[in-house]
Amino acid sequence: MSTICVVGGGGYVGLGYAVALARLGNQVIGLDIDAERVAMLNAGNTPLYEDGLESLLADGLLAGNLRFTTSYDDALADAEFVFLCTGTPSLSDGEADLRQVRAAARAIGERLPTGRRVIVVNKSTMPVGAAEMVAMVVGANAPHGADFRVVSNPEFLREGMVVHDILHPDRVVLGGDDPDATAAVAALYAPLGAPVIQTDHRSAELIKYAANAFLATKISFINDIARLCERLGADVTVVAEGMGRDPRIGPRFLHAGIGFGGSCFPKDVGALTRMAEGAGLHPGLLRAVLEINADARRRFVTRADALLNGLEGRTVAVLGLAFKEGTDDLRESPAISVIDMLEERGATIRAHDPRAMANAARKLSHLVLCDDAYHAAEGADAVMLCTPWPEYRSLDLPRLRAAMRGDLLMDGRNLLDPVNAVDAGLRYEGIGRATKESGSIPAPLAR
Ligand code: UGA
Repeated sequence: MSTICVVGGGGYVGLGYAVALARLGNQVIGLDIDAERVAMLNAGNTPLYEDGLESLLADGLLAGNLRFTTSYDDALADAEFVFLCTGTPSLSDGEADLRQVRAAARAIGERLPTGRRVIVVNKSTMPVGAAEMVAMVVGANAPHGADFRVVSNPEFLREGMVVHDILHPDRVVLGGDDPDATAAVAALYAPLGAPVIQTDHRSAELIKYAANAFLATKISFINDIARLCERLGADVTVVAEGMGRDPRIGPRFLHAGIGFGGSCFPKDVGALTRMAEGAGLHPGLLRAVLEINADARRRFVTRADALLNGLEGRTVAVLGLAFKEGTDDLRESPAISVIDMLEERGATIRAHDPRAMANAARKLSHLVLCDDAYHAAEGADAVMLCTPWPEYRSLDLPRLRAAMRGDLLMDGRNLLDPVNAVDAGLRYEGIGRATKESGSIPAPLAR
């Protein structure tokens, strides 16, 4: 059993690790600067929705090996490991904002004990070279004789699956220059039985960015193919299935739609692009990934504009507000950009999301927020499905149609069956699912 302090212990990543490390039998103190959050957590309430989080939090509090504090002195008093899980948002030019990380590194350095080693585990996603920066800042503020090491340990957690992904990792990546320190961190994860990749700091840091950028590239790739499908009269869902059956390609992250969002992909692809530019390269592929992604949302709105003969004065029901299914997170949500563009063109929005309504009431209070999809569809000229919530798959389409004023159903996630939609009297428009009649140009060989 080890004593572990998790800095940023109230956020998605930090809280996930705090409860999971306690579950593995360690003594864990989560540190967060937000006093309200800390009070909530100590009372057993989670400030964010993640499957399994609340029960593990309750277990840890009850067992007495998990608590939260706002005090660095308290959190670091006996810590052998300090997990650095503070946020790294983007600066306006896309570069990662390291201010929170620097502040945490300074605070950790100032409180390092002498006479025993402390290992700082860097989980925050930071540009290549950042672990060296953390070591420098900790060292510059540490008392004489303090003994510490930094280990880079990027996380690959999906929102909504944080607890599952921590407890069932497909790999553990450890970067550092001290084999004893990396071995000590590897031992924390040993009960999980995952393969461990040991490398230097910079390679570990790049693995995180490259993994996210690759997944984002897969999405933009299929969205590019979707555009082609629309022009050539093919169906991207079938194309993706046919591609995905090749085990070298795989079926995941090949769902065409209105693009990727969330707090990670847009930020990390942007930061990697900036890193490559900073290194004197021209990251054409990464730039294209971002461009195709922005285009996917724009095209969705442009198409609605064309199919409704203008958006001014139209009522649009938007189904799904979260950036993906399974979360209440609205950050960088494609649905929100779509709403912004629709509103700028004079449309009125009625919106529904199975889980993000509380967040929407706080952040999007000007929208008409509806209890369910049918209520949202009332009097709407069009329904635009933006988040692939599984519950929307089983929508009663005749009932949806009956509630609407118009008949346009735009499926921004290719979730619904076009035949069922047409049978229900709806005009169905998916992404990359052209019909021969839908205006595709003649295929080259048919000309
Ligand atoms: C992503 C990565 O999947 C995690 O491995 C990583 O740890 C995390 O970022 C991070 O850096 O912290 P997450 O942002 O939770 O996780 O979301 P994903 O499930 O990857 O989805 C991202 C976006 O891509 C969503 O907007 C989703 O709707 C979209 N998407 C996903 C598609 O448009 N098509 C697909 O085929 C898959």
